[in-house]
Parts: sequence; C-alpha cells; structure tokens
Amino acid sequence: MKLPEELQFIENARKPLKTTTVRLDGKVCIITGATSGVGREAAKRIARAGAHLVLVNRNEEKAAALKAELAALSNAKVDLVHADFSNLDDVQRAASHILHHFPSIHILINNAGVHMTTRRLTVDGFETAFAVNHLASFLFTHLLLERMIASAPARIIQVNSEGHRFGGLKLDDLTWEKRRYKGLQGYGASKVAQLLTVWELADRLKDSGVTINAVHPGEVATNIGMNNGFLYRWYQTYLLAHILKDPKISGEALYYFAAAPELSAISGKFFNLTIEEKPAAHALDRATGKRIWDISEELTGLHHKMMGNTVSTAVENPGFTAAS
Ligand SMILES: NC(=O)c1ccc[n+]([C@@H]2O[C@H](COP(=O)([O-])OP(=O)(O)OC[C@H]3O[C@@H](n4cnc5c(N)ncnc54)[C@H](OP(=O)(O)O)[C@@H]3O)[C@@H](O)[C@H]2O)c1
Repeated sequence: MKLPEELQFIENARKPLKTTTVRLDGKVCIITGATSGVGREAAKRIARAGAHLVLVNRNEEKAAALKAELAALSNAKVDLVHADFSNLDDVQRAASHILHHFPSIHILINNAGVHMTTRRLTVDGFETAFAVNHLASFLFTHLLLERMIASAPARIIQVNSEGHRFGGLKLDDLTWEKRRYKGLQGYGASKVAQLLTVWELADRLKDSGVTINAVHPGEVATNIGMNNGFLYRWYQTYLLAHILKDPKISGEALYYFAAAPELSAISGKFFNLTIEEKPAAHALDRATGKRIWDISEELTGLHHKMMGNTVSTAVENPGFTAAS
C-alpha cells in the first residue's frame, strides 16, 4: 500500500542511502557545529575524502579533540574557527575570519542546530532555535556567498529536518511573545524559515554555479536536545536513543551532497537523507518565503538591495572576483 504524499517521509527513511566515492582533494569545505553528532560524522567522512576542512564550533576544547581525531583518520587539512552561533556578531566575525584566510570556498554545510524545550532569548533578543538554526545560517551563508560564487562550482547544504512538518512559524510572533512556547513547534518554525529561504536563494543563484539544497540527516542518536531539562534528557537517553540510528549515515549522506557528480546542477530541493522529497505544504508557500527572506535580512542587518546586486552581478559577470 502506497502512503499518502504527506506520509511519504516514513517510507523514504527506509530507502537505501545513495553513496559516492568521488574524492574532494583541493576542495575547501566549511562545516558548522562539527563537534558532535551529524556534523562530527560529516567531518570524519569528508576528511577521508581529502577536502580541506574549516570547522566552525562554539566549544574550543571539543574542537581541538575533534581536530586530533581527524588527524589520526586522514591527512586532510583541518582549520578551526571559534564562534557561538546564538550571537550574530560571532557569526559575522567567523565569516570575516574565513574570508580573510580562505581565497576559495567550495562546500558550505550549515549544520549547527539546537532543539529547545523552553523559550530562551539570545543576546540579540531572538528565540534561540530560530536564531541558531535559521538566522545564523542565513547570515553566514550570505556573508560567504560572493566568495562561493567566485569559487564555483560550489555547493551549500542546509542541514534541515523532517521537524519542519511541526510548523510553528508565525511571522508576527517570531519571538513567541503571543503564544506559549512549544519546543517541537519552535524547532519546526526555525526549520520552516530555513527551508523557505532555500527556495528563494536557489532562484537567486540560478546560473551562478552555486547550488543550495536542504537535507534531513535521518533520525539519529546525537546530543541534540541534551541542553534541556532533566526530564527531556532522561527521555532522550533512555527511550529515544534506542530507536535512533547511527549518525554515520548522516555523515555519509552529507558527504554524498558535497561530492556526488549527479547533484552538480541540482538546486532548491529537499532530501530525506539522500531521497528527494516533497516538504510540507506550509514550507512551500513562496509568498511567506519572500516575507521571511526580507525579515531575515532585516533581523540579521543584511541589506536587501546589496545582496540582490551581489548575486546578479556575479551571475552576469563570470569573471567577478570577490573582495577580501
Ligand atoms: N539528530 C537528529 O535526529 C536530527 C534530525 C533532524 C535534523 N537534525 C539536525 O542536524 C543538525 C545537527 O544536530 P545533531 O543532531 O548532530 O545535534 P548535536 O549532536 O547536538 O550537534 C549539534 C552541533 O551544533 C553545535 N551548536 C549548537 N548550538 C550552537 C551554537 N549556539 N553555536 C555554535 N554551534 C552550536 C553543537 O555544538 P556543541 O558540541 O558545543 O554542543 C554541535 O556541534 C541540526 O541542525 C539538527 O537540527 C538532527
């Protein structure tokens, strides 16, 4: 029996993972949130494929341990950048540092993410999941965009989630002042906002040689949510962890998105692991997408006109070189 379209994700999760063995020698690959779970497995897999890794993390100790682990696994070059993505100034500093030190960027994996069970505001006054999962990756991507266009072919991979199906995005209440905060919906809202901006950016990047896609990395056992209270942590450790898969599959999937030749021209799509899938209807509403794009530009301090010009100038003029 075939499941209805909105339940296809259950079937897709059981389909075999598509894989590749294409090497990434000479490619610069940025991964945010590589110190744990999905990002850590992606870093390990992509290091083995020979890419030069630039890992953006908030915990310097964990980052140094990861770098040592990667050195034992491969000869890949690994650079570390320190940044807390709940703080947009830190995102800006990380991007400036990268632009200063790396003349080319071929792969950007926006992976850092959180699931909050309570409403917490960031130093900038945003709801934390919305800030880390959406605003930070939105800003970071835009700050690196010119460099990626100049480095094309290049790929942007947004680590999104089937959790976008929980919905929760209300444009007039992004900080949850008017509603009671619900963790799954707060998480859903951040992932819907990110997905909606993926379709927008894919359109803007048409013919630029830079692709952008969103990926659900599987239901895997990681540390996500472990920042929450005792009850949630108990639920995660003793119940959830037993039904979740090994995050190695997420690492393999993200490597596939970074390297697979058959994806070189695929952009503006959502994948459940490596299977293309139709997202929930509320995440396909382009009118809301245009509004959340504008709101995100405003909240992150990016100027709409400038960003529009950046992309179109680079596309019209293939000889365009990014300023450092
Ligand atoms: N696990 C799943 O089943 C699942 C399903 C769907 C989607 N995802 C998505 O996969 C991505 C990775 O999550 P995960 O499951 O691997 O969780 P995780 O094990 O908790 O890893 C999250 C990573 O993000 C980093 N991070 C969190 N907040 C940050 C901040 N403010 N600034 C900078 N880095 C920050 C964490 O750093 P620390 O190590 O310092 O905590 C860690 O490296 C997220 O976007 C998540 O939404 C996961």
